[in-house]
Amino acid sequence: MAEKQHIPPRHVAVIMDGNGRWAKRRLLPRAAGHRAGMERMISLAEHAFGCGIKYFTLFALSTENLSRPAEELGALFSLFREYFGRHVGALKEKGVRLNVIGDASLLPPDIAEAAKRGEALTAGGEKGTLTFAIGYGGRREIVAAANEAVRRGREVTEEEFASLLWTGELPPPDLLIRTGGEMRISNFLLWQAAYAELYFTDTLFPDFGGEEFDAALREYASRERRFGKL
Ligand code: FPP
Repeated sequence: MAEKQHIPPRHVAVIMDGNGRWAKRRLLPRAAGHRAGMERMISLAEHAFGCGIKYFTLFALSTENLSRPAEELGALFSLFREYFGRHVGALKEKGVRLNVIGDASLLPPDIAEAAKRGEALTAGGEKGTLTFAIGYGGRREIVAAANEAVRRGREVTEEEFASLLWTGELPPPDLLIRTGGEMRISNFLLWQAAYAELYFTDTLFPDFGGEEFDAALREYASRERRFGKL
């Protein structure tokens, strides 16, 4: 029998693509696209938690993105600093728990520390969990978990392996959205998205507002999730 649909999904993950093209179309530097993306991300997270979504996960910087030109990386790092410095207090007020996943050793130490402080500040939040994947790569995460399993010196179950991933106790995403027109998952949540419903849109991330998010939720609600069963 088909799995009963959760409406809305418990966990939504987003690949925020298209900031650069959004800026280019306006003859603006790419950094302006990332700033518009951050503003969109803030309003979308608020919208998502308002819809009852409990886990909202955003791909903010991949391991591959780390080889972008220094100027662009610098602009992204400045945005992360700004976000962790100025916006985490609002999360705490709203009862949203901040969670940052990825290889912290790939980030400037002050950003990794600011992320840890933000997580500690918001740790009690019960409205929902906002996860940023920064310096994140699904393959890197799986290899790190496999190495941890080897260190434990015994075979592990699927459940135990999942708990060793950076996503730890997060449930798997029910719905994975990618903006910006590409139809791939680009090393994001490779293990966790095994049965996620996929939603691809041409809309560039800074233009992806609440109305289109709601359309993605309706599309999700219309899908029949069988998890490989009949
Ligand atoms: C991909 O678009 C987007 C990124 C590499 C960065 C996403 C980051 C943000 C939206 C900022 C989020 C801020 C916080 C605090 C998490 P692209 O540059 O590849 O766009 P393109 O394909 O049009 O060039």
